[in-house]
Amino acid sequence: MSSGSHRLDRFLSRSLSINRRDVKPLLAQGRILVDQQPVIGVEQLVDAFSQIVFDGRVLQSRLPVYLMLHKPVGILSATSDPQHPTVIDLLHREDKTDLHIVGRLDRGSSGLLLLTNDGRWSRALMAPEHNVAKVYLVTVANPLTPDYVQAFAKGMYFGYEDITTRPATLEILAARLARVTLVEGRYHQIKRMFGRFRNPVLGLHRIAIGTLSLDAARATGQSRDLTPTELRGIQG
Ligand code: URA
Repeated sequence: MSSGSHRLDRFLSRSLSINRRDVKPLLAQGRILVDQQPVIGVEQLVDAFSQIVFDGRVLQSRLPVYLMLHKPVGILSATSDPQHPTVIDLLHREDKTDLHIVGRLDRGSSGLLLLTNDGRWSRALMAPEHNVAKVYLVTVANPLTPDYVQAFAKGMYFGYEDITTRPATLEILAARLARVTLVEGRYHQIKRMFGRFRNPVLGLHRIAIGTLSLDAARATGQSRDLTPTELRGIQG
């Protein structure tokens, strides 16, 4: 799940507004460095995080960022909004405008939210065929019964999208508290699933995405970079 690659000559022709055939002499003269190394071949592949320098001028230099945030209730999972505070407002780092959200949470939901500037990584993580599990603690208004377990496992038909939800796991932890595991993320999915039982969701908190668990030491509103071990685990 690394960032997508493309040819260096394509990048240079776009970035310097020159013809592709005019790239070759620049390379031959050793005027282009990729990650500090002179590059000769036009077919060299680069990605969004390769450092590319031409005659000492940095054309591209970007570090990949992978963050986990403990999203508080009441904050919008968006990068900007004219009315409401967004998760980006909670971050205090210069590169935050470059980030996007990996799998939104509703404004009233809390818990683990991932942010990155690596589009390929986020697409792979959210791709339905990768079956990455998202785990939620859900507090509901009315007592739970074994019928819920069966209905979640069987899947529910959503007429609006004309789909049946994929098998989900619901574990009853207390009379009105469940752990729900989904491998997809339909619009308001959990609320709509409990809606079938006319059981309002009072609290929805995401605790894990795949192998990544919300860091218990992070208070709501706090964020941190994923560790190399966490990154390897989720990419595995
Ligand atoms: N399902 C919901 O209904 N809301 C969320 O925020 C996440 C899953």
